Amino acid sequence: MLKQLDEMKANALQVLEGITHIKDLEAWRVHYLGKKSPLTAILRGLAELPIEERKAAGSRANETKRLLEESFLSKEQKLREAALISQAQQEAIDITLPGRPLPAGHLHPLTQTLAEICDIFQSMGFQVATGPEVEWDYYNFEALNIPAEHPARDTMSSSWVDALDDKGKRSMLLRTHTTSVSARSAASRKPPIRVIEPGKVYRYEASDATHVPMFHQVDGLAVDRGITMADLKGTLYEFARRFFGPERNVRFRVDFFPFVEPGVEMAIECLACHGSGCRLCKSSGWIEVAGAGMTHPKVLERGGIDPEVYSSFAFGFGVDRLPMLRYGIDDVRLFYGNDLRFLRQF
Ligand code: DAH
Repeated sequence: MLKQLDEMKANALQVLEGITHIKDLEAWRVHYLGKKSPLTAILRGLAELPIEERKAAGSRANETKRLLEESFLSKEQKLREAALISQAQQEAIDITLPGRPLPAGHLHPLTQTLAEICDIFQSMGFQVATGPEVEWDYYNFEALNIPAEHPARDTMSSSWVDALDDKGKRSMLLRTHTTSVSARSAASRKPPIRVIEPGKVYRYEASDATHVPMFHQVDGLAVDRGITMADLKGTLYEFARRFFGPERNVRFRVDFFPFVEPGVEMAIECLACHGSGCRLCKSSGWIEVAGAGMTHPKVLERGGIDPEVYSSFAFGFGVDRLPMLRYGIDDVRLFYGNDLRFLRQF
């Protein structure tokens, strides 16, 4: 019996030693320590042995059982550790590898231009104001001294929204100029007012090299006691020097806009030919960049500002043209084509 136990033990340990995979362990345990194992049979049979053999056989059998159990547990632990280590090695991340670079974009050239214009005016004490792109007839036209049948409405091909007011009239449109924000600023702010108003505007027009149905403007409005045309010219000259360079000539000529009186157009010396005349400036030597003027008293009144006390100047720049002039771009549609080969140059 003792010999049988020793042989069984030696055999069990040898087999255990050879196990390399954790999933084979359970079969070993069932075979050598389970209910149907020879060891269990021996332990059960102890009672039938003669008393003098029973003691030695019992203690040897229990000792064997304990030894096998301990060996099993320590083997199990060893295999688990080994499995963990190999898993960690397989899943290891090489933190010294360089990462995949995320492509970084940059601001669109028109956004850059808008920001640059706002910066210049902000440094002169103007605050940035914005308004809605879907606008009331009132702020886009009515408050700007452009009543219902005014011919100026025709020059601004509007995109109307299917919304009717209480009188059954279409009353909302995509704003045709950011001057609508000036009407809002006059109505919502108290003088002294100095605001700069960048944004998108819409005209119902076919696209070509110089026209797109959505483009950008920046309007400005200053209201205070004693503001004169000299303030308007001084402000716009300063802007032109900062934006186009100190050597660039600027010209003001009389023009008409219903919301200013007097009204002017501002032109800069052609960037391509420096005033001698070329295709870009249609041989005139000058390029129009803005409309401006002294705010019409009716516009101030509409905003609740007394024109007897306050005076005001206003201006509006077309933005898309400015980077076209600066970089010699001859088709405005390039700004809206989303062609990265074009956009990456700025
Ligand atoms: N809103 C005019 C346009 O879109 C431009 C303009 C002219 C704006 C004179 C002004 C201004 O504020 O005073 O053509």
